[in-house]
Amino acid sequence: MATQDKREDILRAAEKAPLLSPSAQRLLQITSAREHELMEIVAVVKCDAHLTVRVLKIVNSAAFGLLYPISSIDRAVSYLGERMVVGIALNDCAAHLFDKQLDGYESERGSLWRHDLQAAIASREVAQRARVEINPDLAFTAGLLHDLGKALISDYLRGTCAGLLAEIEQNQVADYLEGERHLIGIDHTEAGSALARNWKLAEVLQMAIAHHHNPGAAPPEHRPLVYAVHLGDIIAMMGGCGTGADTLRYPLDQGYGAFFDLGGEDLAAIMLDVQEEFAKIDTSLAETKEN
Ligand SMILES: [Fe+2]
Ligand SMILES: [Fe+2]
Repeated sequence: MATQDKREDILRAAEKAPLLSPSAQRLLQITSAREHELMEIVAVVKCDAHLTVRVLKIVNSAAFGLLYPISSIDRAVSYLGERMVVGIALNDCAAHLFDKQLDGYESERGSLWRHDLQAAIASREVAQRARVEINPDLAFTAGLLHDLGKALISDYLRGTCAGLLAEIEQNQVADYLEGERHLIGIDHTEAGSALARNWKLAEVLQMAIAHHHNPGAAPPEHRPLVYAVHLGDIIAMMGGCGTGADTLRYPLDQGYGAFFDLGGEDLAAIMLDVQEEFAKIDTSLAETKEN
């Protein structure tokens, strides 16, 4: 198949991808708005029986180790926080993408979800340490979504890893992103933003997906959050949680210094927190799935 045909195929797949559940869509709308109340999130959860059950099971799962069970949705949502509720809704309705085995990156099933979740936690931690105001929960959501484009393009990249890595070594392409474009006419950031448009995600989320490897190109109003995701992504990869062959094959944009003072000690602390939080969230989600 010609490169241009692959690109068009992928863009068509992004347009035809199943929509998010109405609850996930609504939760993303609410949490992307500058001003919102936790009660709005509670109201969405209460209207969705499946999400209600899942949220209650998760908050009462062994991973959270509560002394007394929580039976009210209001308390469960306020205990878990809005980012976790968004994470649960996305984990449910976009499982076909998060759980896809990325053969084109030679990684095992589940690695996209694990990487996205670690990047989400790290993006939030980075956002909390920014010199400018960045909504940490929104940084988490953006981190969760940032690499979904890989699920759309992976099959078209089958068998290309070794060649692409050799091209990077020999400086024939600058990084993995350019390698993807070179091979199939599109990279995972562009495929991911086509999906985000189809899902009508807020502009800030679309920008985070589109520019997570080149945050300096994001519109100025969204740049701090996009930098948080850029760093969160790299921290997840540095912690050993990437998506396969492309791990750490992207440049670090030094422009982050305009928004963050992050020294070696901060990075070490973030990486520790990420491991701890990841274990808790991932275990609670896995424990409560489909039962
Ligand atoms: Fe990426
Ligand atoms: Fe990533």
